[in-house]
Amino acid sequence: MNFDFTEEQLMIQESARDFAQNEIAPTAVDRDIKAEFPTDIIKKMGELGFLGMMVSPDHGGAGMDTISYVLAMIEISKVDASVGVIMSVNNSLVCWGLEEYGSDFIKQKYLVPLAKGEKLGSFALSEPEAGSDATQQHTIADRDGEFFSLNGMKNWITNGTTADYHLVMATTDKTKGHKGISTFLVEKGTPGFGHGKKEDKLGIRSSDTCSLTFENCRVPKENIVWEEGKGFNFAMNTLNGGRIGIASQALGIAEASLEAALKYSKERKAFGKEIAVLQAIQFKLADMAMKLDAAKLLTFKAAALKDAHKKYFAEAAMAKLYASKIAVECALEAIQIHGGYGYVREYLVERYLRDAKITEIYEGTSEIQRIVIARSLLDAK
Ligand code: CAA
Repeated sequence: MNFDFTEEQLMIQESARDFAQNEIAPTAVDRDIKAEFPTDIIKKMGELGFLGMMVSPDHGGAGMDTISYVLAMIEISKVDASVGVIMSVNNSLVCWGLEEYGSDFIKQKYLVPLAKGEKLGSFALSEPEAGSDATQQHTIADRDGEFFSLNGMKNWITNGTTADYHLVMATTDKTKGHKGISTFLVEKGTPGFGHGKKEDKLGIRSSDTCSLTFENCRVPKENIVWEEGKGFNFAMNTLNGGRIGIASQALGIAEASLEAALKYSKERKAFGKEIAVLQAIQFKLADMAMKLDAAKLLTFKAAALKDAHKKYFAEAAMAKLYASKIAVECALEAIQIHGGYGYVREYLVERYLRDAKITEIYEGTSEIQRIVIARSLLDAK
């Protein structure tokens, strides 16, 4: 077992850290308050290769491994988890699935600009009545000659108002249950396609979340990704990698919480000395560090399995489940260590808590991750 990163992986980590500190950090607080999308930052990230990290250079990507992606996601999310989720969705939920399952036509026309960051993508699975129970797709796609006509609604779509290309899961054959779901690539601006207002969220406020609507929205049949009836499997396979991305986002938040707690506890004095010398504080710091390390090990294990083309879905679920849980715990402890200062905007830890909570909800709630893990155990017996 080798715990060392390669030189290339360390270089990517460093360049992500530099970019995060210099380009993202200065505006993070302001964008959170104003719920403002980081348009310029995302454009620069595209130019630097952070939006198509794992896509091969043949398709416009940076050709990196999943470990490098995790390292970069941690650095970016540590500074701004809103930027982290935009990056994660484009990389894991959009680009990865298109490279794995898209036709040559789809790869050339859509994947290349997405991987280069010239275009942005979204992943539209959730619906008002299909969240955790994702097989219940009420969005319908009816065959109409060389086209499919989409009708329905999607909910909670990250990059919803900003994305140029949307991966939309819709039912093409109601009689076949989840085997009757297909994935369509829908271009923004297609007649019949619309979106709702940006959601006013608790956290990850500068990312863009909204509903999407489809009214007789005609999409050419060439825009089916993989093949008709494979849409649910596409979504599940893609989400496995997405969960590594969200685990990494959670790790970034947890690491930021620990660093803030360490810094504050060395600065703040109480009872005549720095609070860092108090056992009550030290126990908290020790627990945070241990949990963070355990969550990192789970996440890097899932990433390494994916890179080795081995089965990784249960490991990805474990990584996401645990990293999201400890991100919330670490943010809470960081607030506790800061006392009253932790509860106000002046210090960043209140945002860490608000940002951390969503990692237990999207890309499969913690309860869904437990289902995925338990089924893998039972199936193995
Ligand atoms: N990986 C690969 N395949 C999987 C899978 C996984 N983790 N989980 C299920 N599947 C496959 C099964 O193998 C089965 O395939 P076949 O029929 O080909 O054999 C198929 O999916 C159906 O599986 P089940 O019979 O187990 O289906 P179910 O309805 O009992 O449970 C579920 C499925 C695991 C609960 C699934 O519905 C699920 O993962 N729900 C959560 C959905 C989710 O994560 N939504 C996130 C929205 S996207 C988002 O948040 C993005 C964003 O913008 C940030």
